[in-house]
Amino acid sequence: MKQYNAALIGIGGFGKNHTKQMVEHASERRLKCVAFAEPNPEANRPYYDSLVGIGVKPYVDYREMIQAHPEIDFVAIATPIALHKPMCVYAMEHGMHALTEKPPAVTVQDVEEMAEVSRRTGKLCSVSFQMTGINAFRKLLELLRDGAVGELKQVTGTGLWHRTDEYYARTAWAGKLTQSGQYVLDGTMNNPFSHLLNNCLYAAGMGDPAKAAPVRVQAELYHGHAIDAEDTSCVRIETACGVDVRFYATLCHSSSDTPQLVAHGTAGKMVWDYGHRLKVVGADGNERVLEFPKEDLTRNMYMNLMEAIAAGDAGQKTLYCPVDACRSFVQATNGAFESAKAIHPLPVEYWERLSVVIARAAAEGKLFSELGEPWAVPSAPFALDGYRRFALYQE
Ligand SMILES: NC(=O)c1ccc[n+]([C@@H]2O[C@H](COP(=O)([O-])OP(=O)(O)OC[C@H]3O[C@@H](n4cnc5c(N)ncnc54)[C@H](O)[C@@H]3O)[C@@H](O)[C@H]2O)c1
Repeated sequence: MKQYNAALIGIGGFGKNHTKQMVEHASERRLKCVAFAEPNPEANRPYYDSLVGIGVKPYVDYREMIQAHPEIDFVAIATPIALHKPMCVYAMEHGMHALTEKPPAVTVQDVEEMAEVSRRTGKLCSVSFQMTGINAFRKLLELLRDGAVGELKQVTGTGLWHRTDEYYARTAWAGKLTQSGQYVLDGTMNNPFSHLLNNCLYAAGMGDPAKAAPVRVQAELYHGHAIDAEDTSCVRIETACGVDVRFYATLCHSSSDTPQLVAHGTAGKMVWDYGHRLKVVGADGNERVLEFPKEDLTRNMYMNLMEAIAAGDAGQKTLYCPVDACRSFVQATNGAFESAKAIHPLPVEYWERLSVVIARAAAEGKLFSELGEPWAVPSAPFALDGYRRFALYQE
């Protein structure tokens, strides 16, 4: 494989993981990391030094970096959510492929713009929704297409994690709806459980999330922590292909459980979880569990992008998660905010009931208010027909 010229924007926070990828792939001579941009070197000294130590040129401003290095083949972007779109667009407009952290964009208008720029420039924009590349999940997609559960009817994702006040204090945009006039909508859907929601839509479309484009979304959003955005959500999605998607998530749980996705069909179900396991249950109740070896998921995304670049025109189709495929995800999150209309408080005394509430809601396909929870506030379904612009919460 050709050795690609790569660059990184954002080396701290989750960017540490990308710094590690750059160093490892460079040592394996798969790529040459040419430059990186990071406005806060002091806070990220070890990562800064590890890159400079292998000859990578540091910049503060990513635009200056891109202009100075037309030889860059692709740019990896591990910066705050609101920066993904302008950085990807700038890189593609300058003839470079992009690998951006998730979510690619917060609004339907932004993801549309990114997809348009990728199409027009012919540059790949891969989204590091790394759970789309995991072997156990790709096996689930294959088995769904093979009819292993009969006709697919419903996909349900559940995620219960513990997040502390320190988590929300770690960076300025955490828990925000907007920051400096830009949308962030940080929360279960757009951040920690974004992979789960995105994979639910991939599963509903049996690998093609465009087939599972949301038609109507009904959602309730809550916050237990002292944040503007949501940390607990339930979302019901009617999709274009007729498979119902349900998503239940909270960051107010007392511990962090393994998130899971259940795909129900007319002849059984499959359960995939983040622990590299896939359980197939036949209509007769017989179970078989497939265990997969652990993988370095971010490494998979780098390998996938480099293979797609090498494939030329065919590369777009081989990406695990091109920006184009993220439209359904962004429509779902925007539809959820439109449906919920407001983010309601979740009093701390109800947190310990959440695992029971979520298990029941998932089993019955209900939203929290439909279970009669005293803190829950009903919402109305939101139709996405002709929906082109998210404009809530503007200051
Ligand atoms: N794929 C995953 O599993 C996963 C896990 C965690 C976070 N993330 C994603 O990673 C991204 C970063 O999240 P984070 O919590 O690390 O954020 P962060 O606020 O800690 O920022 C990450 C890095 O970007 C740098 N940065 C900020 N502005 C910049 C600019 N203008 N130019 C260059 N660098 C800049 C910061 O200084 C920091 O080093 C988010 O999109 C988040 O959703 C992904």
